[in-house]
Amino acid sequence: MHSSLLAGLLGLVSQKLAGINAVTPKTIIVTGGAGFIGSAVVRELINNTKHQVINLDKLTYAGNLESLKEVEASERYHFEQVDICDAQNVKRIFDTYQPDIVMHLAAESHVDRSIDGPSEFIQTNIVGTYTLLDQTKRYWTALEERKKTGFRFHHISTDEVYGELPHPEDANADSNKPLPLFTEQTAYSPSSPYSASKASSDHLVRAWHKTYGLPVVITNCSNNYGPYHFPEKLIPLVILNALEGKPLPVYGKGNQIRDWLYVEDHARALIRVATEGGTGETYNIGGHNEKQNIDVVKTICTILDEVRPKETPYATHITFVADRPGHDMRYAIDATKIQKELGWSPQETFETGIRKTVEWYLNHLEWCQHVQDGSYQRERLGNVE
Ligand SMILES: NC(=O)c1ccc[n+]([C@@H]2O[C@H](COP(=O)([O-])OP(=O)(O)OC[C@H]3O[C@@H](n4cnc5c(N)ncnc54)[C@H](O)[C@@H]3O)[C@@H](O)[C@H]2O)c1
Repeated sequence: MHSSLLAGLLGLVSQKLAGINAVTPKTIIVTGGAGFIGSAVVRELINNTKHQVINLDKLTYAGNLESLKEVEASERYHFEQVDICDAQNVKRIFDTYQPDIVMHLAAESHVDRSIDGPSEFIQTNIVGTYTLLDQTKRYWTALEERKKTGFRFHHISTDEVYGELPHPEDANADSNKPLPLFTEQTAYSPSSPYSASKASSDHLVRAWHKTYGLPVVITNCSNNYGPYHFPEKLIPLVILNALEGKPLPVYGKGNQIRDWLYVEDHARALIRVATEGGTGETYNIGGHNEKQNIDVVKTICTILDEVRPKETPYATHITFVADRPGHDMRYAIDATKIQKELGWSPQETFETGIRKTVEWYLNHLEWCQHVQDGSYQRERLGNVE
């Protein structure tokens, strides 16, 4: 047989085998499964796969079991309230459930809070990731060969580790040249205590792969938005303030650019990477939706004017406030690798996703009240005088 034909056939067979592998039910520990993205991953795993899920979450202010109501009765869902820094309990969970995959999302995630109090970020994002890696290595080393080969530690990270990209309004920007994007080769240059702590955790994960051979895979994703997002973040904060007739705070000139991805698209990408991604590989995940913050806010106002009209347009409440210290001006992802190698691409455009999001908040005001729980009143965070 001609060698290229044989190679093609072998490729097809291995793709088929990878497909079969992808649908074989696995036991997956999801850390941070009660948070915004983690809960979307857990809902997707329970609703649309046969995998077994162990949600390992400390339940900080950002974790809420109400986000998992629709899956909590499933026999394939288990919850363990544990801090990832607690080695003894992490060990117990590994020994009890014998996972095939760890999807590590647990983190302190809000940049403004990291400016006010970096300590929790160092503890959970760096020390916690180290503790989890240490326990994973102990468990993985003792596995029998077949289970050991198939095992994956999937570390979920952010595009913020790369720092900021040139902005179209930069004085020396050449308008004839396309602006650069973050690729998997972009050098790390984090700006905030949050992104620096995530960058540290990414380095630890790579070191555990290179030094101990732990089969890891890393993803770096752009800004997510969608249902169950804690109201301290821009999109839910603007929706809820608008409904209450409060000012809609926009940092600086509002011209910071983010690449927005609908959270359920991210969850689908993460499951694809966890089950089919290459060992030691990194995948960037993004939505091809570069938007200035001010345009995001105006879009929300336009949708609200349509679905919940008031006497004055919502946009009249937009208020420019002092910028965040060290605020990165632009993030944008080149997601070619995950599209080509794993066949993932987002299902939602920004226009469809933001409409779904606004409608979700209108229908879930109780959830918003419960998660804020008196301790957070959508006040300004981020150490600004
Ligand atoms: N939100 C985004 O736009 C975005 C984008 C890219 C990457 N990420 C990354 O994705 C992950 C999830 O982000 P998110 O927005 O869902 O965060 P989130 O703040 O909504 O949720 C974090 C979850 O982790 C839990 N947690 C915190 N500390 C813990 C600890 N010590 N032990 C166990 N559980 C703990 C919290 O209770 C919460 O349920 C993070 O690692 C974040 O860096 C987020």
